This record gives sequence, C-alpha cells and structure tokens, in this order.
Amino acid sequence: MNRLKCVKGMHDVLPQDMPKWHFLEDSYRELVERYGYVEIRTPVLEPLELFVRGIGEDTDIVEKEMYAFDDKGGARLALRPEGTASVIRSFVQHNMHALQPVSKLYYIGPMFRRERPAKGRYRQFYQAGAELIGVADPAADAEIIDMAVQFVGALGIENVKVQVNSLGDRETRPAYRKALVEHFTGRTEELCSDCVRRLDTNPLRVLDCKVEGCRQVAAGAPSVLDFLAEGAREHFDELRRILDRNGTPYDVVPRMVRGLNYYTRTIFEIQGESKDLGAQSTIVGGGRYDNLVEELGGKSTPTIGFAFGIERLLLMLGDSARRERRDVVFVAAIGEGGLDRASSLARDLRRSGFDVEVPYAMGSLRSQLKKADRAGATVALIAGEDEAGRGAVTLRHMKQGSQEEVLLTDLRSRLEALK
Ligand code: HAM
Repeated sequence: MNRLKCVKGMHDVLPQDMPKWHFLEDSYRELVERYGYVEIRTPVLEPLELFVRGIGEDTDIVEKEMYAFDDKGGARLALRPEGTASVIRSFVQHNMHALQPVSKLYYIGPMFRRERPAKGRYRQFYQAGAELIGVADPAADAEIIDMAVQFVGALGIENVKVQVNSLGDRETRPAYRKALVEHFTGRTEELCSDCVRRLDTNPLRVLDCKVEGCRQVAAGAPSVLDFLAEGAREHFDELRRILDRNGTPYDVVPRMVRGLNYYTRTIFEIQGESKDLGAQSTIVGGGRYDNLVEELGGKSTPTIGFAFGIERLLLMLGDSARRERRDVVFVAAIGEGGLDRASSLARDLRRSGFDVEVPYAMGSLRSQLKKADRAGATVALIAGEDEAGRGAVTLRHMKQGSQEEVLLTDLRSRLEALK
C-alpha cells in the first residue's frame, strides 16, 4: 500500500521540535497574562459569512486563499484564515461587553490559508494573537505594540523592525481612495491585471502588490497621512509620542497597508531579518479595527490587536530556546516479583510528581539500563529482591555510573535533592 502524506503546505510538528514550540507558547502565555490577557479558544470552522463580512470579500484571503465548503447539511463553512474575526464573533455572541467594559483576549492556534507554500509560508500555520476590546485611546495602541515588541525581545530575537502607519477613519478613506485611483489610473499599463481590477474594488491593495511594476507606481502614490482627519491625526501623533517616550524604535511607513479590510487608524508590523525568513519577513501584523464589532452585529466598540506567525518566529529562534526537559527516573525490574515491585514503585513516584519510565517486561539489568539511557533517565532505581527485603532500592546515577542504597522512606527526599 502506498503511504499517505499530509496535505501540501501543511506539516506535522514532530516530538523533537516540541520543546521549541513549548518554549515559545509558554513565553507568550506568561507575557500576555502579565498584561491581564485571558485565553479564548474558538472553533477552527466558522460560518463562511464571518470572514466575508469581517475580512472583506475583495481581499486575497477571502477571494483566493480560504478553505471554504458546504458541509453535508448544506451549511457554508470555512476553516478560519485568522483569529480576529472569530474572537469578535465570540465576543458579540456571548455579550462579553455586558460582563466588563474591557476584554483582553489572547489565543494560540492553527489558521488556514491556501497560499503558495514557501519557507515561512504554509497552508496550515499557527498564530499567537491578542485582542484588546473596549479601549479607544492611543495608550492602548502603544501597549499592544509594546507587548509585541517585548515578546520578540523576551525570545532573544534581535534585529527586528517595527513599522507603523495610520489608515485613518471611515471619513478619511473615500478621499484617499479617490487620490489613489487618480494616481494609478494614468499608469494602468504599468500595473498587473490584478491591480487594474483592484482599482475598482480596493485600490489600497495596489500598494501591497509584490509585482515590480506595481511597486514602482505605488512608490510615488499619495501618502495616507496627508489625508487623515483631525481625530485620526491626533490619535496617531499621540501614539508616536508614547512610543518615543517608551524608547520603542519604529519607522512610519506611509504606504504600508494590510491584507485585511477591517483596519482603521493604527496599523503595524514587525519585520524580521530575511536571512532567517526568506521573502516572508513579516513576523507580526496588527492594528486597530474599530468597526468590526458593529459589523458583526455588536454595538460599536473600539478594538486593537495583533497576531504572530509561530513558525516564522521559530525560524528566527536559536537552538538554545527550548523548554527544559524534566528529570526522568527509570525503575528497573529485577528478580522474582520485579515487574510488580517496579510498577507499584513507579505509580507511587508518579503520584508524588516524578516523571517515571518502566521497562514493561523483564530483561537483564544491562538491557534495562540501556532502556533507561534511551529514555533519557538521570536516575535508575533497581528494585531487587534483596533491597526490597531491607525496605530499600538501589539508586544508580546514570551519568556517573555510581550507585547507593536508599531506604524507601527516604526515596522522595533523595530524588528531590538530585533534581
Ligand atoms: P496577518 O498579517 O494576516 O494578520 O497575519 C499575522 C501573522 O501571521 C503574519 O505576520 C505572519 O507571521 C503569520 N502568517 C500569515 N499567513 C501565514 C502563512 N501562510 N504561513 C505562515 N505564517 C503566516 C492577521 O491575521 C490579523 N488577524 C492580525 C490582527 C490581530 N490584527 C488585529 N488583531
């Protein structure tokens, strides 16, 4: 029979890679919980309409990349391509605003986009994200950006670039759109066919096109910052003042846009170094999306958040960044009744909180010690008949090969001391 493989662009996370994943996830939880965030888990399958309404029909994600299908009951579903729309759907569905005025929610989980697979770009990938719901002030934007920067720093990742921009409000957008269309219309022959179409549907996206001709025309496009209405301008100025005061290094990139339509005012990205990430250098993307709660049926609520691509962060992490393995105790089964003695000792020790491996079958001491070695044990306990008669076990230090006899009554404290 031929062997089956996982779907193109999707990957198994193998046991040997897990210590790095755990390190990253532990660090993330620890950091965001320090800022008062609590975890939320939403389903990976959602109504298709959530993303059509939330992210926007004319985005690459919804138009080209979503795994959408009808289930056997005829419901139109999609695998979530990102976490924000789902979190806000849940916020509205469960009336979270009635419980408290501000919700700080974080999540870690798989997302799905049918993009062309490349280094750092997958069809199933993991995001670690955070959403701050209910605060309109620029201090919230600054804290969200700071949290993302702190996280990257806590992982020991250096040489990143923080880029910020403001997309303004609903009032800003029509005038800016018009100016963009005017700029691009005279030069349509230099644009790719997608961008020519985008001029009608969503001209901001031309600024994000990777095709060289489009990039050149986009470089001379008007800056959104010249179109900001007073409220959005003051908001952006205040954000910059706080970032400066905090000493957070950043660049204002006036032609930066994001691939999701829900953003208003502040947007930001953190870029990593291309030597680690190839062309996929964006490790975090985020921003304010003050209209989304209302668009998903809730009452108008300001919101801001971000999400990291976990695989991209992992590509940048050194090998020393891994969750340490806890010490393993191996209990060897020797002599008459050895397996029973070993298994009951193992059960006792596990109940006391030790990580314990057993041989499952009798064998020579030599072969059992080999098993202990393979299991990564630091200590082997040899529960032989003679020692059992004395109420004791032999404790072998695996690295040194030295042994000592320890009374069962002293065993826990002796093992604790060796940790
Ligand atoms: P996004 O920029 O689409 O934003 O994705 C955030 C991050 O997810 C990216 O910076 C990247 O690291 C990672 N990512 C995206 N696509 C892929 C892929 N195909 N393979 C590997 N990694 C990928 C959002 O998703 C927004 N929901 C962020 C947000 C939260 N805005 C406000 N709150």
